[in-house]
Amino acid sequence: MDAVFILLFIGVWLFVLFHFSISIPKGRFRKKWIEGKWPEHDHLPLFLPKLMHWIHLLCMLALAFSGLYIRFPFFDGGRTPMRWVHYVAMTIVGLNFLWRVWYAFFSKNRDYKKFGVTKRDLQSALGVLAYYGYFSDSKPHVAEYNVMQKMSYLLFAVLMMAQGFTGLSLLTQELPLIELSMREILVGWWLGPLVGGVAVAGAWMRILHYAINWLFIIMTVVHFYLAVNEDLLIGLDFFGFKKYPKEKLVSHGHGHDDAHAAPAVAAVAEAE
Ligand code: HEM
Ligand code: HEM
Repeated sequence: MDAVFILLFIGVWLFVLFHFSISIPKGRFRKKWIEGKWPEHDHLPLFLPKLMHWIHLLCMLALAFSGLYIRFPFFDGGRTPMRWVHYVAMTIVGLNFLWRVWYAFFSKNRDYKKFGVTKRDLQSALGVLAYYGYFSDSKPHVAEYNVMQKMSYLLFAVLMMAQGFTGLSLLTQELPLIELSMREILVGWWLGPLVGGVAVAGAWMRILHYAINWLFIIMTVVHFYLAVNEDLLIGLDFFGFKKYPKEKLVSHGHGHDDAHAAPAVAAVAEAE
């Protein structure tokens, strides 16, 4: 399994490099990186989603590093500290995830609609794929996030829950008072009898946890590449490195719910 994932990881980097190199003869590189013609926006990212994304990113880096160390102790003496790093980061990332979900559905600036895949999104899917496959030069603009973004963000959320579940199922210490471990609570009673014991169920959870670890790493490489190469200016704003230039803010609707999108000025005011 390790060899497969490592090959996949290298393959994704090569693919990204290949995709980037085609953008040079296609003129996209020049348009964006030399002439500075990056996509225009009518909304700017708000402060709290930026903060949560930062917390999430730092925790994910710590989790991937410490997790891989738990599996392959690649230097001496790190076993206990790396376990602690994993436990602390998993607690923070879990709370941060709940906060993001709460924010999406219940806060004043709830934004769950941005992530919903609509019929129009599905109809635009071929066009979006054609744009990324260099078959067409225009990307359909249906909403703030395109259909691929929406689906990958939703997949990130599903993977987070799966990673939390499989990760907690690796804990075999008995909890105080109830005299059961997280493994027994989460998988022991249903998966255990199916696969021939709690230990086997735990072993499956370890395999899944490890496979999802690689899925995260691979998806993050693509997400990182697209964030930088497709929309650098909003990326810099999202990370708080450089404000998105106000003169580039445009006011246009997205077709459906927010067809009567607020004027750009209001969007800026909202962002600040
Ligand atoms: C989301 C919440 C998470 C929880 C609750 C969690 C929990 C755990 C636990 C309890 C272990 C076993 C540690 C030990 O043996 O002492 C573990 C191992 C591991 N975790 Fe996580 N983790 C989470 C997220 C992640 C993420 C996001 C990644 C990678 C991106 C990751 C990668 C790993 C790896 C590679 C291992 C080693 C697995 C092995 O031994 O084969 N974990 N995790
Ligand atoms: C490697 C560094 C990363 C970069 C440069 C990056 C960049 C970005 C950017 C620029 C956006 C905003 C898009 C927009 O609003 O137009 C975004 C949103 C998002 N990113 Fe990342 N990201 C990174 C890592 C990650 C990781 C590790 C995950 C999850 C495992 C992730 C999950 C998301 C999600 C779910 C969103 C949706 C918006 C939100 O949550 O507010 N990102 N990312």
